[in-house]
Amino acid sequence: MDYFEIAKQKFDNLRTKKDVLILSVESSCDETAIALVKNGRQVLANAVSSQIEIHKKFGGVVPEVASRNHIKNITTVLDETLTESGVTLDDVDAVAVTYGAGLVGALLVGVNFAKTLAYALKVPLIAVSHVHGHIGANYISHQDLEPPFLCLMVSGGHTALVDVRDYCDFSVLGSTVDDSVGECFDKVARVLGLSYPGGPNIEKLAKNGKKCIKFNYHTPLPNSLNFSFSGLKTAVVNYVHNLQQKNVQVPKADIACSFQELAVEELVGKTMHACQKLNSQKLVIAGGVGANSRLRERLSQACEKNGIQMFAPNLRYCTDNAAMIGSIAYFYIRAGKGLADLTLTAVPTVRIDA
Ligand code: KG4
Ligand code: ZN
Repeated sequence: MDYFEIAKQKFDNLRTKKDVLILSVESSCDETAIALVKNGRQVLANAVSSQIEIHKKFGGVVPEVASRNHIKNITTVLDETLTESGVTLDDVDAVAVTYGAGLVGALLVGVNFAKTLAYALKVPLIAVSHVHGHIGANYISHQDLEPPFLCLMVSGGHTALVDVRDYCDFSVLGSTVDDSVGECFDKVARVLGLSYPGGPNIEKLAKNGKKCIKFNYHTPLPNSLNFSFSGLKTAVVNYVHNLQQKNVQVPKADIACSFQELAVEELVGKTMHACQKLNSQKLVIAGGVGANSRLRERLSQACEKNGIQMFAPNLRYCTDNAAMIGSIAYFYIRAGKGLADLTLTAVPTVRIDA
């Protein structure tokens, strides 16, 4: 029997097997990550090698540099994962990997590594969508959390409201028509001279500022569940450039705070609107911007007011990691989804509802 015949048979068995141990690989951007996750909920090991320090000096992720560093680090990350978990590769039931969305060159390193491992171990290869992984971060953070729920997906690549009807059944209610909110945080950080990654540095700086700056900006798409962040980004950038041209000191903390408040209110308003529309009692936050403490605070206040239960991932699972990929891969397997053959390749974008 060739590899894929064996993989198909094992995949079918895994749909009902009592315990399923998944080794998961994530390399979509600048984190090289490998995890071991049991039954979608229990993280045995979660190793992440971050390239932040390398990309900082360029002010953002340089795709070619990211790919090269994934290649350099990935076997060490696997060794760390195995040592931390105490299991051996023979215990692994399936290998899962992020195949998109992300930087194609970076993704290819993880995809090729996972294909090689799956082939050598003769276990199924599971192709996972990165955004679904961000939702999976919640299943390892909240053991009792089950769909259906509404998800606010806020990452560097996505800003969307997703109706999660089941573990593998997603419907997009609204998404950004231009920039993601993460991109907006990163660009505002850059114009304020803050280092990469911008989001966490805006959050830090905003704590010392006041919401007192009026940007030349009107809330876009007021009656829609779609988002638009490019207007806010441009308004802040223009505001800063204007002051710089006049040689006026830039009140960085106040700008960070005023910008963050506008971005957060935009997210909170539409999220509450979507909850009402769906009559949803459960809200789940997913993606890197979900680490923002002001967003969590405002959403939690709004949820409390409206009788909605709110869930957010533990901070270590909020930004990119492989444990979240291993979690959702388990639910893919249970639903008979995601089995890939050895022609699997990387793609830059994936539909959330695919
Ligand atoms: O989900 P993620 O780690 O990667 C993608 O899938 O894109 O999200 C990265 C984004 C970046 O734009 C980063 O600046 C933002 O999440 N981010 C934050 C915070 N932590 C990360 N934005 C605001 N506040 C934070 N604390
Ligand atoms: Zn991500």
